[in-house]
Amino acid sequence: MRLAIVGYGRMGREVERLARRAGFEIVCIIKSRKELESRLDIVNAEVAVEFTEPAAAVGNLIHLAQAGLDIVCGTTGWYDRLDEVREVVSRCGVGVVYAPNFSVGAFLMFRIVEWLGQHLTRLKAEVGVFEAHHSGKKDAPSGTAKRIVETLKKSGLKVDESWLRVGGVVGWHFLLSDFGDETLELHHRVRSRAAFARGALLAAQLIRGRKGLFSFEQILQEFLNA
Ligand SMILES: NC(=O)c1ccc[n+]([C@@H]2O[C@H](COP(=O)([O-])OP(=O)(O)OC[C@H]3O[C@@H](n4cnc5c(N)ncnc54)[C@H](OP(=O)(O)O)[C@@H]3O)[C@@H](O)[C@H]2O)c1
Repeated sequence: MRLAIVGYGRMGREVERLARRAGFEIVCIIKSRKELESRLDIVNAEVAVEFTEPAAAVGNLIHLAQAGLDIVCGTTGWYDRLDEVREVVSRCGVGVVYAPNFSVGAFLMFRIVEWLGQHLTRLKAEVGVFEAHHSGKKDAPSGTAKRIVETLKKSGLKVDESWLRVGGVVGWHFLLSDFGDETLELHHRVRSRAAFARGALLAAQLIRGRKGLFSFEQILQEFLNA
């Protein structure tokens, strides 16, 4: 598969490393702002993998969809504009998959939280969600933490939230629930960015042939059910 890498920071480099090892062909790497508009070779790619920054993501997605590429978007912090992106993606007839967290462990944590939320509500549990990431992460709380908190709130729970930006922590999400004399704790720790990159490359394979905007959860669940 021919890939374009859009954004060449911590994640873009990791995607490149794993993609080359797995036999993907990298036809274009966009390393900085403004470069995308002038790079005509982007159309040689089948899928663009986008890891840039919240302020750039929507513009990049629109540009790439209009160029006819399928897209894997790992950038977080732009989901208030999902409807706008969905409309452009459907008009352009491409497939886009996005996720706040492309690790398979985070997907499993989301599924457990959906199930757990209903039971914690019945048990009148007190619940808190904590996340920690490296000091270079620009958005806070993380997209993954927001997703966990939203799911718990939909179950009717009040949720305490906190976060920390420190050192080189790759990604840690922690749910603490307390009911009476016991606590139940759920942790997910990413030890290396390779976990996200591997998920993003799986998403690149799964998005081919689909049209529209999909969450990674949707297509990963279908893949696991098949
Ligand atoms: N979904 C997931 O699994 C997952 C996992 C990890 C991180 N993330 C998210 O992915 C994003 C990137 O993370 P990161 O750690 O790789 O950040 P990073 O190291 O800061 O890299 C971002 C890179 O994107 C470049 N960039 C910014 N705007 C651009 C544009 N318009 N076109 C092309 N390149 C552009 C930046 O260039 P300059 O340095 O020149 O500004 C920088 O090199 C963040 O939103 C982060 O939260 C998601």
